[in-house]
Amino acid sequence: VPPPPLFYSPFPTGAQNPAIMKNESWKFPSGFFWGVASAAYQIEGAAQAEGRGPSVWDVFTHRSTSITVNNDTGDVGCNEYYLYKQDIARIAALGVPYYSFSISWSRVFPYGKGPVNELALQHYDDLIDTCLQYGVKPMVTLFHWDLPLYLQNEYGGWLSEEIVGDFVAYAKVVFGRYGNKVSHWFTVNEPIVFCGEYPYPKNYFSAVTIADADQKYFCGHHVLLAHSEAYRLGKSMGLNGTIAFKTNGGYKIPLTNSTDDALAVQRAWDFNEGWFANPVYLNGDYPTYLKDYVSTLGLEFTADQKALINGTADLFAHDAYTSSFYMAPDGGVAACLANSSNTLYPGCFNSTNVNPAGWNIGPAADIYTPWLNLATDWVPLFLRYIQDTWPSAGGIAVSEFGWAEPFEHLKPTKVDILYDPGRMMYYKNYMEAILIAISEGVNVVGCLAWSIMDNLEWADGYLPKFGVQYVNFTTFERSYKASFFTYVDAFKVYAEDP
Ligand code: NOJ
Repeated sequence: VPPPPLFYSPFPTGAQNPAIMKNESWKFPSGFFWGVASAAYQIEGAAQAEGRGPSVWDVFTHRSTSITVNNDTGDVGCNEYYLYKQDIARIAALGVPYYSFSISWSRVFPYGKGPVNELALQHYDDLIDTCLQYGVKPMVTLFHWDLPLYLQNEYGGWLSEEIVGDFVAYAKVVFGRYGNKVSHWFTVNEPIVFCGEYPYPKNYFSAVTIADADQKYFCGHHVLLAHSEAYRLGKSMGLNGTIAFKTNGGYKIPLTNSTDDALAVQRAWDFNEGWFANPVYLNGDYPTYLKDYVSTLGLEFTADQKALINGTADLFAHDAYTSSFYMAPDGGVAACLANSSNTLYPGCFNSTNVNPAGWNIGPAADIYTPWLNLATDWVPLFLRYIQDTWPSAGGIAVSEFGWAEPFEHLKPTKVDILYDPGRMMYYKNYMEAILIAISEGVNVVGCLAWSIMDNLEWADGYLPKFGVQYVNFTTFERSYKASFFTYVDAFKVYAEDP
C-alpha cells in the first residue's frame, strides 16, 4: 500500500461535509443511551494530588525503560482533575446526555486496600454531582487499568486470587457512595487488553513464577471472579443502575473459505470475546478451545464458581473499533496444536488487517482509507454475531468506538485539526451502521464515543488523537472538533419518529 500524502482530503473532489442524512427507516429505540467516554489515568493528571497512591501505570511510564512513546506520562494528562466542571459543561452544552468515565482505585485506596482516602471521594462526589446538575448522566467504570501499585507489588495484582477480595472491597465503597446516582456501572474495562496486551513487564514482578505467556489467563480468571463478586454485591446493595463489564475485540472474518481458516476464526472468538463472554453470558465456563488450553494451567472453575459467574451482566458492553481477517498459522491448525513447543501462536490462529486485495477492512484498523464506507459493512454483522452468540437480556452497548485520524498530530494549524472530515465520515458511517443493525432487529441499546477529548493513548503516548475535542497540551484549552457535531447530529436526525 503506498503511503498516503501527509495532509489529505478524504474526498477526491475536495472538501465536502459528510452530513448525516435522514433515512425514514432508521430510528433509535426509546431509551437508547449515547455519550462520550474517558478513563482516569488517560485524562486526570494530578498524579500526586490529594493523597492519590501510585498505580502500575505510573511505573510503566516512569521507569527508565518506559513503555510509552516519547516517555509520555499521565502525570498531568488533560488536567481534568481540575478542569472537570468545564469538561462537563462543554458536553452538556452540546446536549450529550451521558458521560462514561472511570474512578481511580489508587485515589480511593492509595494502598489498594486499607484506609480510604476521603479527599478522593470528595472529588468524585463533586464530579458526579456536577454531571447531575448539568443533566448529564454519569456512567462509572471501576477499573480502567490503573491498578494500585501496592497490590501489584504485594501479590502480583491480577495474577493472584487475592485481588478478588480487594476489588470487591473497593467496589463496595464506590457502590455505597454513588449507588443511586449512576445509571450504568462497568466493573472492568477490556480485560483482554489489560491482562494480555499490556503484559506486566518482565523482571518487574520477581515474585511471580507464572510463565509470561500464560500470565494473562491467570489474570483473566481472577477478573471473572472479581467481576462476578462485585456484580452480586451491587445487586445485593440494590443499585439502580445496570452492572456489566466492558469487553473488546473485533469482527473476525476468515481470510479464505478453507475449513482451516473457519476453524481459526472460531478459535479466535474463543480466545478473545469468548474468554469473558461465555462464562458471563452463557454458562459460567470458558469456551471449548480456550478451556482445553487453560485447563492445562490448572485454571478451572468449580461448580460454585460457575454458578457465581453465570449471568452477571445486565447488558453486553463491547468496545468495537475494528475487524480483521483470521487464518490458520502456517502448517494448519492441527499441526500447530500438535506442536507443544509452539509459542508463536498459542491459540493456533493468526490474523491480519489486510486482505489479499490490499484493503484494510475496518475504520480503526484502516489508516489509509477510513472514508470508505466500511463501518457499515462489518459493524452490523458484528452486532448481529454478538446477539446470536451471547444473548443478553439487556441488549448490546457499543461501549466505545472512535477513530484516531492518522497524522492529525502533524496538522499545521488548529483550523486543520478542528476540521476533521475523516473522523466526521467515521462517525457518520458508524452511526449509520448502528442504525442499520437496529433496523435489522439487533437490540443495540446505546453507544459511547471514544473519546471526550484527546488524551494519553497508553503506550502510544499523546500521539494518537482519538478526541472529539482537541486539547492544547500547553494551555489545556479544549476545542470542539467538527466530528463532535457530526456525532451529535445523528441523534438529532434520527431521534424523532419518522
Ligand atoms: C480502548 C480503551 O478502553 C481506551 O482506554 C483506549 O484509549 C481506546 N480503546 C482507544 O484505543
